[in-house]
Amino acid sequence: VELEFRNDFAGVDWQFVSDTLRLVGMAYHRPENHKKAFENSYAVVFVYREGTMIGFGRAVSDGVYQSAVYDVAVLPEYRKQGIGTAVMKNLLERLPAGNVILYANIGREGFYEKLGFRRMKTAMARFRHAAVMREKGFTE
Ligand SMILES: CC(C)(COP(=O)(O)OP(=O)(O)OC[C@H]1O[C@@H](n2cnc3c(N)ncnc32)[C@H](O)[C@@H]1OP(=O)(O)O)[C@@H](O)C(=O)NCCC(=O)NCCS
Repeated sequence: VELEFRNDFAGVDWQFVSDTLRLVGMAYHRPENHKKAFENSYAVVFVYREGTMIGFGRAVSDGVYQSAVYDVAVLPEYRKQGIGTAVMKNLLERLPAGNVILYANIGREGFYEKLGFRRMKTAMARFRHAAVMREKGFTE
């Protein structure tokens, strides 16, 4: 089955983006806010299988030396086929040479280590839902 990696917003179902993030246990928002966030990003990718979206990701960047990856998700039934890795590579190859940061979902650190990411010892975050993120294990 052929996969298509699209870097534009044509026909994107933002409700699907919201629903998928919720389904996989990541932060999700109203569809129009995902639309705004993706449109304001530096690089986006949407994965389609037979015309249906099955995954996506995005990165923000200053366009010169600092970037950050967010909202990488693949539908559970299509995992372990290299699609998540392809999403990451698609984003990374379009980011400027320089630093890339992200925070892994709990238990997904190994996925990013294979892509060359390493745990940061001084990472600091001011999360909006600080208590929830502490409860989930993202912060001390
Ligand atoms: C993290 C996520 C994006 C990975 O997507 P994916 O498509 O399964 O990623 P890949 O297939 O490229 O790699 C996943 C694993 O499958 C393995 N794999 C890749 N191709 C494979 C194949 N053909 N056969 C068997 N295993 C394979 C990879 O080695 C990797 O192993 P790991 O779990 O030890 O790291 C996905 O699991 C997901 O959406 N998770 C929920 C949301 C999430 O955690 N997102 C990241 C937030 S930071």
